[in-house]
Amino acid sequence: MARTFDLTPRRVPRVETALRRIVTELPAPQSLPILEKLQRYEPLAMQGQPPVVWDHAEGFQVFDAYGNCWIDWSSGVLIANAGHGRAEIVDSIALQARSKLLTDYCFPHEIRARLVERLSSLLPEPLKKVFLLTTGSETVECAIKLCRSHGVKAGGRAKHIVVSFDNAFHGRTLGAQQVGGIPALKEWIVNLDPGFVQVPFPDGFRTADSSFDGFLRALDERKVEPRNVAGVILETYQGGSAAFAPREYMQALRKWCDGHKALLVCDEVQAGFGRTGTLWGFEHYGIVPDLACFGKGISSSLPLAAVAGRPDVMDLYPPGTMSSTHSGNPICCAAALASIDLVLKERLAENAREMGGLLHQGLLAIQSRYPQIGWVSGKGLVAGVACVVPGSKEPDGGLAWEVVRRCVEKGVLMFAPVGFGGATVKIFPPLVITREAILESTAVLEEAFAESVPSRGAVA
Ligand SMILES: Cc1ncc(COP(=O)(O)O)c(C=O)c1O
Repeated sequence: MARTFDLTPRRVPRVETALRRIVTELPAPQSLPILEKLQRYEPLAMQGQPPVVWDHAEGFQVFDAYGNCWIDWSSGVLIANAGHGRAEIVDSIALQARSKLLTDYCFPHEIRARLVERLSSLLPEPLKKVFLLTTGSETVECAIKLCRSHGVKAGGRAKHIVVSFDNAFHGRTLGAQQVGGIPALKEWIVNLDPGFVQVPFPDGFRTADSSFDGFLRALDERKVEPRNVAGVILETYQGGSAAFAPREYMQALRKWCDGHKALLVCDEVQAGFGRTGTLWGFEHYGIVPDLACFGKGISSSLPLAAVAGRPDVMDLYPPGTMSSTHSGNPICCAAALASIDLVLKERLAENAREMGGLLHQGLLAIQSRYPQIGWVSGKGLVAGVACVVPGSKEPDGGLAWEVVRRCVEKGVLMFAPVGFGGATVKIFPPLVITREAILESTAVLEEAFAESVPSRGAVA
């Protein structure tokens, strides 16, 4: 599945619109020394994304230093919710940097106080205490620790099982990978902890039965006693596909967790801060989790992450025993405060809902013409387009790869395909994207499909 894009420059048709410009071969020949240096000094695992050397990025566009410009469908990796390079965020970072408080570990500082208060005030009850961290994986590790600590306290040492979902991605650290649901990613762990159990995710496509009975049945089959479950963690939508669970399923899960004194954790690392058309992704379910993990779009820029939770759970550890070196770095806090202001003032969740409606309408129209698209998932400004062998659910990773390559060559910057069989073309532009850019980039996607499946062709 692991593939890389060819670094031999290819002649590609010139593109020049108000929003996109491709005027060199791709990869740009002038960028090769940089790409080669990265290949030489970074681990192989850092390769795999389209070989576009970013020079700067603004709003929903990414520029290289050689005259090319893309409509960005990646937001980095769902980071730039408020848009790339926003002046308000740059100014806030610069102001904080000039104040000469660049770091201070867990010693108190005013801007950290402001950020946790702000997050707490925006989150619903009971998510009122906030622990700042640096990466999404760290927040998942922290959530696992809190679930197990809470479980053992409530029900003894047997109550330590953390249930999560097949195909889930929660990060690359040891615990995050054990709650992850992608077996290939955790082969290296060898002796997997039996206290981490995965059940099918009710996406209605790969798992046809999306009823809550499926959850109960899966626990039973895996011989998990409900009273021994410390917590259930899920991505609010699955990162590999953009699939949401049914609302009724999540409401039943909420009740089940309450009934069994298990904590419900939503990993909002992708879904938070307006991405799905609501400020928090879990709003779509009409539930509130006991713990929520945030990262990526929290600052639209610098590395920052957060766990928010029920005060009684967040206060399980005594002073000095739950910390991280860069917890709430002042400059990252400044970036997050400015980004959150933009998301709210510019009503970017609403824009995600509106522009997302337009995007999904366009994707469904393309799907109706291409039997190679088995499934379109997502809400707001996140979408997954699953490429399949027509008439089946068998993933077609080769087609997804071709489509992404062609989109990039046409000036729409995309993440390499993800998900089951590496066959999902994932779309997640900055939330400031405009109607014109959505229409233009969706048309590019269709062109890419048309060129990638010429022999099979579209349905007339
Ligand atoms: C849902 C989800 N959780 C956690 C993570 C891990 O975040 P990070 O890469 O910041 O550690 C990711 C990263 O892609 C993610 O998508």
